[in-house]
Amino acid sequence: MEKRIFLSSPHMSDEGYEQQYIKEAFDTNWIAPLGENVNKFEEEISAYVGSKTAGALSSGTAAIHMALKALEVKKDDIVFCQSLTFSATANPIIYQNATPVFIDSEKETWNMDPKALEKAFEKYPNPKAVIVVYLYGTPAKIDEIKEICDRHNTPLVEDAAESLGSMYKGKQTGTFGKYGIYSFNGNKIITTSGGGMIVSDDEEKIAKVRFWATQSREEDS
Ligand SMILES: Cc1ncc(COP(=O)(O)O)c(C=O)c1O
Repeated sequence: MEKRIFLSSPHMSDEGYEQQYIKEAFDTNWIAPLGENVNKFEEEISAYVGSKTAGALSSGTAAIHMALKALEVKKDDIVFCQSLTFSATANPIIYQNATPVFIDSEKETWNMDPKALEKAFEKYPNPKAVIVVYLYGTPAKIDEIKEICDRHNTPLVEDAAESLGSMYKGKQTGTFGKYGIYSFNGNKIITTSGGGMIVSDDEEKIAKVRFWATQSREEDS
């Protein structure tokens, strides 16, 4: 094959828009990891998806990890996780020393099957969380999945790493559960080369996530 087709290779705007910000970061010496651009990015993402708040992190994987930590997932807990996904969805369950129970997908969206989820609750009635994925950007049957989670009083984490901008009944994927996460890895809808974001309506918990992710740094008043 002569012409190589890349998987989602990054595309920069023709106007050099991105380079302006890189230059500005250099000019103002904001090479340190956080600064005004990151704050604005968090504000823009939460405004765009319609969550109360958002926290920028080093990766989508870190965002899933922080969501599970915020839910106090710990050793010997069970977390239900979509089986058809990238391994990064499940790895943070292991980082917390918990046990993943994998839930099969249905044929229509390739995402978590609500029937299989209901069945899993019969076998394991008290999972600490459920992680649903929007694989290849396709919304899952989230109304049904959320109804089951709510009925069982179990928090829902949405791995929306691949689905920034995908909507379900007019609402952004990543905003149905307790926490939603996005990835800005090189092959995602938008990229920062590497990076992630956690979104939620729980401002206190996201402030805590920011604290954990920045070596426990606090604002000096
Ligand atoms: C479904 C899914 N979950 C999680 C991740 C992890 O994101 P990151 O690479 O930013 O850690 C990715 C992609 O990389 C993904 O496709």
